[in-house]
Amino acid sequence: MSDFYQGFTQSAIGKQVTRLLGLPTPATLERYAEGAPLVDGTVAVGGRGRLAESLVGILDTLGIAATDETGADTGGEARFKGLVFDATGLTSSADLVALRDFFTPLLRRLDPCPRVVVLGTPPEQVADGERVAQRALEGFTRSLGKEIGRGGTVQLVYVADGAEGAVQSTLAFLLSPKSAYVSGQVIRIGAHGATDAEPVDDWLRPLEGKVALVTGASRGIGEQIARVLHRDGATVVGVDVPQAASELQGVMKGLDGDHLVLDITAKDAPQRLAHHLKTEHGGVDVVVHNAGITRDKKLANMAEDRWESVIAVNLTAPERITRELLDQGVIRPNGRVVGVASIAGIAGNVGQTNYAASKAGVIGLVDSLADELTDGITVNAVAPGFIITQMTAAVPFATREVGQRLNAMAQGGLPVDVAETIAWYANPASTAVNGNVVRVCGQMMLGA
Ligand SMILES: NC(=O)c1ccc[n+]([C@@H]2O[C@H](COP(=O)([O-])OP(=O)(O)OC[C@H]3O[C@@H](n4cnc5c(N)ncnc54)[C@H](O)[C@@H]3O)[C@@H](O)[C@H]2O)c1
Repeated sequence: MSDFYQGFTQSAIGKQVTRLLGLPTPATLERYAEGAPLVDGTVAVGGRGRLAESLVGILDTLGIAATDETGADTGGEARFKGLVFDATGLTSSADLVALRDFFTPLLRRLDPCPRVVVLGTPPEQVADGERVAQRALEGFTRSLGKEIGRGGTVQLVYVADGAEGAVQSTLAFLLSPKSAYVSGQVIRIGAHGATDAEPVDDWLRPLEGKVALVTGASRGIGEQIARVLHRDGATVVGVDVPQAASELQGVMKGLDGDHLVLDITAKDAPQRLAHHLKTEHGGVDVVVHNAGITRDKKLANMAEDRWESVIAVNLTAPERITRELLDQGVIRPNGRVVGVASIAGIAGNVGQTNYAASKAGVIGLVDSLADELTDGITVNAVAPGFIITQMTAAVPFATREVGQRLNAMAQGGLPVDVAETIAWYANPASTAVNGNVVRVCGQMMLGA
């Protein structure tokens, strides 16, 4: 399940061939190592608006070294691991030049795998010229994401009026190597349940004392989600089908967790899960609907069972389970519901009408629940692009090799990249992160 092409570009002959033919050379992405500081370097902060003044202080609470002294005082030579620009004060198209003024001199002073975050105001909250300027930020950040190279990432975070104090967990994620394969995203932080957010004392174990349910936890992305949530302090309850029982048991034993062998499409699965979580754990704080299957065929040849099984596992089961856990009050206040969608649900894919419908439906589930939830409970989804797992190992070699290159990082992601994004949603301080669908796709060229 390794990346054949990336390995080739790092060999002596591969380096020559890629240089001669002008082929893409995927950077080696930095990923988070347990116990390491969130950012290995200094973050430069700039801009003007509602957030600029508090940014250095917020980053300080995360142990991130930050400075707004980027020019003469540093001799114009200091190097930076990250850049954060407050664009909430840009109120007209003429103001947009402030982006050029801040970023252009600094882009040459970035360390490898740099992180860039632009903060804006949701365009729908403002009018006229300000709305134009705030909407323009999307084009800027998405283009810079494609330009930045060297394993860098660029995101736009729209911070709603009143949510200024709720950006901490999002900055912790976006500035750290945890967001290695997330780029070109537009993230929204609302005022939703801002008062329900819990302060995090230990950023190395933010989920201490929490219980997390992960479906499909015996292998692939689900196994990694279980590992990362456990690393962050959670007690993990893993679920998988009877055929995967021994693998599931092995994974969960290694994590001092709990497991339940269960087909999530079974008629009584929601009730069994609710009962188990209530009686064994007194409830649940994080629910991750990861289990998923593909049964690809063009629609002209699609047998009914292929259609039914994919919709049942990927969409109907998460819908029914979420509803039951909410109705029975099993999800505790400040809880988290996380769906696993897919780029296929956004861009569509040949042979995947069933799968893409199920994954777009997961996004619909997020949309429909986001406004309904109370008590600080949030719902969000990840939409993975090409992630190297047993699921993608089944893709034919040539399609797989090409598929992995169709993104700004010219490589596939790893299960841990999806898991880290879910851990950010799960963080007790992420209460204002609600209704988002973040793509974990290395800024794939497909789809919006
Ligand atoms: N790998 C990728 O590139 C990629 C891309 C986009 C989205 N996804 C999504 O990520 C999730 C995980 O994918 P993966 O690549 O790790 O797949 P995988 O096939 O390796 O793992 C899926 C797990 O779900 C379990 N499962 C399937 N049906 C189940 C059921 N009825 N009840 C309980 N468990 C069940 C399987 O036994 C397996 O352990 C899926 O929802 C998938 O659609 C993956």
